[in-house]
Amino acid sequence: MPITFDSENKIFHLTTPNSSYIFTIEGDGILIHTYYGKKLSNISNIKDIINYSVASFSAADYYKEDGAMISSDMLPQEYPFYGSTDLRSPAFHASYKDGSRITDMKYVSHKIFSGKPALLGLPATYTESDDEATTLELEMKDDLTGLEFTYRYTVFENYDAIARSVTARNRGGDNVNISAIASCSVDFLDADFDMVHLSGCWARERHVYKHPLTHGFQGVDSKRTSSSHHHSPFLALARKNAGEENGEVYGFSLVYSGNFRAGVEVDAYAIARVQLGINPFDFSWLLEPGASFTTPEVVMVYSGSGFGKMSRTYHKLYRTRLARGYYRDTRRPILINNWEATYFDFNEEKILNIARRAKDLGIELMVLDDGWFGKRENDRSSLGDWVTYKKRLPKGVEHLAKRITDEGMRFGLWFEPEMISVDSDLYRSHPDWCIHVEGRKKSEGRFQLVLDLTRSDVRRYIIDTLSYYLENAPISYIKWDMNRNITEHGSAALPPERQGELGHRYILGIYEVLETLTTRFPKVLFEGCSGGGGRFDAGMIHYFSQYWTSDDTDAVERLYIQYGSSMFLPPVTMSAHISAVPNHQTGRVTPMKLRGNVAIWGQFGYELDLNKLSDEDIEEVKNQIALCKEYEEVFHKGDMYRLASPFEGDTASFEFISEDKNKVIMIYCVIKAMPHTPAKRVKFAGLEEGAVYKDIATGKTYGGDMLMNAGLLLSINSDYESVMMVFEKI
Ligand code: DGJ
Repeated sequence: MPITFDSENKIFHLTTPNSSYIFTIEGDGILIHTYYGKKLSNISNIKDIINYSVASFSAADYYKEDGAMISSDMLPQEYPFYGSTDLRSPAFHASYKDGSRITDMKYVSHKIFSGKPALLGLPATYTESDDEATTLELEMKDDLTGLEFTYRYTVFENYDAIARSVTARNRGGDNVNISAIASCSVDFLDADFDMVHLSGCWARERHVYKHPLTHGFQGVDSKRTSSSHHHSPFLALARKNAGEENGEVYGFSLVYSGNFRAGVEVDAYAIARVQLGINPFDFSWLLEPGASFTTPEVVMVYSGSGFGKMSRTYHKLYRTRLARGYYRDTRRPILINNWEATYFDFNEEKILNIARRAKDLGIELMVLDDGWFGKRENDRSSLGDWVTYKKRLPKGVEHLAKRITDEGMRFGLWFEPEMISVDSDLYRSHPDWCIHVEGRKKSEGRFQLVLDLTRSDVRRYIIDTLSYYLENAPISYIKWDMNRNITEHGSAALPPERQGELGHRYILGIYEVLETLTTRFPKVLFEGCSGGGGRFDAGMIHYFSQYWTSDDTDAVERLYIQYGSSMFLPPVTMSAHISAVPNHQTGRVTPMKLRGNVAIWGQFGYELDLNKLSDEDIEEVKNQIALCKEYEEVFHKGDMYRLASPFEGDTASFEFISEDKNKVIMIYCVIKAMPHTPAKRVKFAGLEEGAVYKDIATGKTYGGDMLMNAGLLLSINSDYESVMMVFEKI
């Protein structure tokens, strides 16, 4: 059984194939977190590892039978509430009718069952049959206020992961004002870890940062009402010796797209408290009698074999049990997008020319980006006016869609549904529909304001607009963009006491819209985008089959961005396009081959006018498209190994092993060459020691143990040189 309860010693033991997660019931119903790590077999005396001594200044919650004083302040907690003697960061903080902020949750009961309940209105991992997972639900209660909690833990046996969330229910007679409610809290008994997080900004998303844990609070967060370009709702704790394929690493991934906090507090006794959840900053939630509040879930992965194993666990779970719909298991079309080819300077003939050349070369989907609607001359107007800009497309976007599909390509269209330009008919008729505070300025970002998705009329408008196009034109793909963060938080539709709910209600609103549209149009491919990878998180991949990873299309920059993203996001979700050189973001000139070797393992496509390429580049494009079609399954359904990190040297290397383990693809890229440096060698990972692998280009064979331990010598050593090698197990 993956979840057991020892009723005599009151020990809960959750086990995945490689990990144990243990907590106990103490005293009058306090839950003590006891252990998370490598799987344990005999835990009968596990309580002996807990230090029950009490330091000066820590108050007692209760006394043991022998008179010993117990203080929560010294003990690892399962889910700490403000109001006990624990004065470290609480997972939950609320105020009650009498102004008090004390919560005193005690264990009431629990049940263990097969399957996993859905989290209503929130993206979450799921099962397809009950035998895939086992769930523990613990009921907790505060007798004085009537507030109840359910702690939910789901063990995914086949995935080596645990998902958890909590629900608060107000069973009392008075309002409860919640000001903090984390999705998870884990107290590690020591702090001898590095914290790894993914941070950056626009066009430089998800770079990998690593710091040793230190006393006090450390972490990342977002106050942008979006998970943001700046930080990802993810962190890992790694033992000092951990590498890609060795050492202990713990991953924590919050399945959420709004304001979040992911942090670690190390206390005076070196207990490291990890918490992830909705950011308590500028958050409040009024829980009326009878109402409940469910947090987003956190997915925890323990790896005893480094960062690589942690990432592969997330990749597999997220691409098969978080991603959904038709495209979860169906090959996606190779696309071409006109944005970097034309920006706003296009007409029907230009788009057709790009599409025709693309089709000749085997590209399957033409995407028309920004500029087709309202009076959109540039980015200063028209968001919200989703009718064709007749000056650009006199016969309408529907006509263009038909012409492209008549020629045998699929057609996709760009929208930025959450936004409103001040210069738009929509704003002139509904000035109240944007997020704003009456009497305050409305700061524009990219000349636009944000629609108030807490409002049902706004949500309906977005759903109706997109439904119209999907029902009336042959559109099989939507690029859903979102190009600013929210400032001046305020909603004309919320009462004063609920204004602090805006951030979370906005995210619930976007989830509802996406749920409706993806359910209504199951065969439409929805791609997410937020000025590139600004909201590329685990929550969004529940709705968007793929996400525009970054506006930076430069191959070298993408090596860093895609490397970092792959910490928890599966390659199958990462859109990666080949664009023109000099690159529009960096001015860098890289060979077509490098651009291909970087993009090919994501969701592959182009973002340029193929009519402008040299014959030599066109030959490379043909080769890329053929390779993509042949090996797409290896990249997207196989296992990924990161062999060389661009953050640690001037090269990057990735390896993919097919699901059946018979094909291996190794990609190696040189970022910066220096004369007279050591030869470039690559050591493979994850192969069968005793198996023999044939390089399909040369016919040469190599032992798996040789490739992994001695490695291969590569004959490349100049700037931006790259190689992709394909092996078959024989
Ligand atoms: C930002 C996106 O990331 C780009 O790909 C493009 O769609 C532009 N917006 C269009 O305005």
